[in-house]
Amino acid sequence: TKDWNGIDQVVLRSPRGASARVSLHGGQVVSWKNDRGEELLFTSSKAIFKPPKAMRGGIPICFPQFGNCGSLEQHGFARNKIWAFDDNPSPLHFNDSKGKSSIDLILKPSEEDLKCWPHSFEFRLRVSLTADGDLTMISRIRNINGKPFSFSFAYHTYFSVSDISEVRIEGLETLDYLDNLCQRERFTEQGDAITFEFEVDRVYLSSPNVVAVLDHGKKQTFVIKKEGLPDVVVWNPWEKKSKSIVDLGDEEYKQMLCVDGAAIEKPITLKPGEEWTGRLDLSVVPSSYCSEH
Ligand code: BG6
Repeated sequence: TKDWNGIDQVVLRSPRGASARVSLHGGQVVSWKNDRGEELLFTSSKAIFKPPKAMRGGIPICFPQFGNCGSLEQHGFARNKIWAFDDNPSPLHFNDSKGKSSIDLILKPSEEDLKCWPHSFEFRLRVSLTADGDLTMISRIRNINGKPFSFSFAYHTYFSVSDISEVRIEGLETLDYLDNLCQRERFTEQGDAITFEFEVDRVYLSSPNVVAVLDHGKKQTFVIKKEGLPDVVVWNPWEKKSKSIVDLGDEEYKQMLCVDGAAIEKPITLKPGEEWTGRLDLSVVPSSYCSEH
């Protein structure tokens, strides 16, 4: 299908009726629904579906820079570009395709990108929906340059939540984090699970490969599994910052939480010919399931 701007979108469907919608604008997942048709990702009612900016919601991909620490635009250019269908997906991707519905996209730098970031790469993205309705994203980034380059990366996932006051994150307890609100000062998490009462903008470092977002209101838990992505970004803009974001409603911070599988603190370095893989597996389970298992 095409969006309002004529940009291709692909809808993946599971046999039981779950679905995911992927836009060629940014390679961004813009919707993920369970088999009852309920949306699992947040999209702002004020989202702007118009290039060059990524729309506010879903899963924009931050590459080759996270945030504004670097010479590039905030969160890098990948999320603002029009990706192409990949006719020649990585053979490694085929091993992963059993029973899944998948789409393969590719991003190569344009002349303009090479002016701001002079490194040739091929970024292959596979988005899959499993028979159970789980969402998998696999990014493979290859250096096709004559010299090494480094980058940071995040799957900037906007989860849809019942109410931010009903949500907690498990799996980040006792970790060190960089606080983006305090010029990236380093702190150590003290509490049990993470709950929300004010703006949070942090990068948790070297986290376990499974993190859970528990939503008491919806009695459901998002399970985030990640590979190649040591860090976890946690972001909720809260009341004041929301008002300064044009494409986010003033009260919408209550219905969203960003929890990103990411590689930020230690940038990934690729030598010529080398390839990096970063994988995210998202599933959603009833909350009782987690306490029983
Ligand atoms: C977060 C950053 O991950 O993304 C925040 O840590 C930023 O500082 C937020 O405000 C949203 O960024 P953007 O560019 O999509 O508005």
